[in-house]
Amino acid sequence: MLAIDAGTTGVTAIVFDHRGRVCSRAYAEFTQHYPRAGWVEHDAEEILMVTLRVIGEALRDGRIRSDDLQGIGITNQRETVVLWDRASGQPLGRAIVWQDRRTAKFCDALRDRGLEAWLQERTGLLIDPYFSATKLHWLLEQDPDLRERARSGTIAFGTIDSWLVFRLSGLRAHVTDYSNASRTQLYNLHELRWDPDILDLLDIPAALLPEVMPSSWIYAHTDPELFPGSRPIPIAGIAGDQQAALFGQACHEPGMAKNTYGTGSFVLQHTGTTAVPSRQRLLTTIAWGIGDEPVEYAQEGAIFVTGAAVQWLRDGLGMIASATETEALARSVADNEGVYFVPALTGLGAPHWDPHARGLLIGLTRGTGKAQVARAVLESIAYQTRDVLEAMQRDSGIRLSELRCDGGAALNPVLMQFQADILDSSVVVPETVETTALGAAYLAGLATGFWGDRTELARHWRVRNRYTPGLPEPERERLYRRWLRAVDLSRGWARE
Ligand code: G3P
Repeated sequence: MLAIDAGTTGVTAIVFDHRGRVCSRAYAEFTQHYPRAGWVEHDAEEILMVTLRVIGEALRDGRIRSDDLQGIGITNQRETVVLWDRASGQPLGRAIVWQDRRTAKFCDALRDRGLEAWLQERTGLLIDPYFSATKLHWLLEQDPDLRERARSGTIAFGTIDSWLVFRLSGLRAHVTDYSNASRTQLYNLHELRWDPDILDLLDIPAALLPEVMPSSWIYAHTDPELFPGSRPIPIAGIAGDQQAALFGQACHEPGMAKNTYGTGSFVLQHTGTTAVPSRQRLLTTIAWGIGDEPVEYAQEGAIFVTGAAVQWLRDGLGMIASATETEALARSVADNEGVYFVPALTGLGAPHWDPHARGLLIGLTRGTGKAQVARAVLESIAYQTRDVLEAMQRDSGIRLSELRCDGGAALNPVLMQFQADILDSSVVVPETVETTALGAAYLAGLATGFWGDRTELARHWRVRNRYTPGLPEPERERLYRRWLRAVDLSRGWARE
């Protein structure tokens, strides 16, 4: 089963065997465009090219013929907006990435009109530039011609999943799944349809939108021109990357939760077949829909910048040559020596929600060097996770006994131990940390009959490491209190 994980900074292709083990894997990054402060864009055509390249590499390295593939599952960075021409399949300008803050003022105006509770009730989401809705509105406002073409149905909108399926299917299928639709802020998560009132509010023509399908379903087959010599392969699974990771972590029961450490970090807790509204500024979202079964929901704490902060140390500051160096640097000091980093590089997400917050490094002395900064960056990942878990526990009244962790940084023992310490709960890392891709493969494999049911999938989940908390309470709370002070200082900075 082939999984394509089209993330924010790169695309991974992984072929899994019947026991959910990785047979072969390839990864490549693509270009990040920052045309102005707070703007982040991608070239959708480049994402497609990189996707085809990593698929080719994974197949070649694993000596796998495309004919051997039973199906393809797609998982993706969510919310990112792509517009394309239906006839040619060509993107219309660059994609606006979920991290992009250009609609912050427009969001303020919507909030000032008192629309937040109304939008949250229908979509489960708060008002923030993060979601697709205001970005799509911005694109159509910029160019009246685009809105006209949108009305006449000659152009299409999609998140990255829709875009890839459209092109991989030879321009045949314009679809998305429940989990991705629920991140656009245009989808009514109770009525399971694009919300006509929200479309009216933002002047978004319905003709632009993809058909919303279950997350496990045969949507289309691959275009033989893209996979020469192969029979058409069923594209059978789609889920937003965080929902796919929840599925890959076998968090199938209400109350189970995971955290994925990627570009950002996203804590999701399964809530069963009910959409539980949040009173703590978390998001209510669709986890998935399997075939004709009722859709399942999750609560989410979305943290925008975690791994991206490490990437910024590497690419922005040139302070390290590779992300793994942070581990040794952080280990080389006994504690953070009072240095804190608030990675509000694209504003702050849950539970703070401040698009005007900006990054902050505080507590510097003449003795501060790379080690303290690297440690502050790693610690910020763990503090932000505590921020959202505390909100989640206040919402549900249930204290989590353990958190399942995955993503690249789950292999960093310094971070994982600190995470357990600062949460004062166990952190468990499974054998396969590529649970995002695994979840997409599972969804596709359930649709094609490669796997029978979820019980079979849950049996594949095995513990790699368990971290138990060990920091005395006064120390833990002292560290965390200072973090909260630093967060306060970062707020509102870009409002001017
Ligand atoms: O909501 C954004 C999220 O889907 C991005 O995930 O893994 O690319 O950081 P990632």
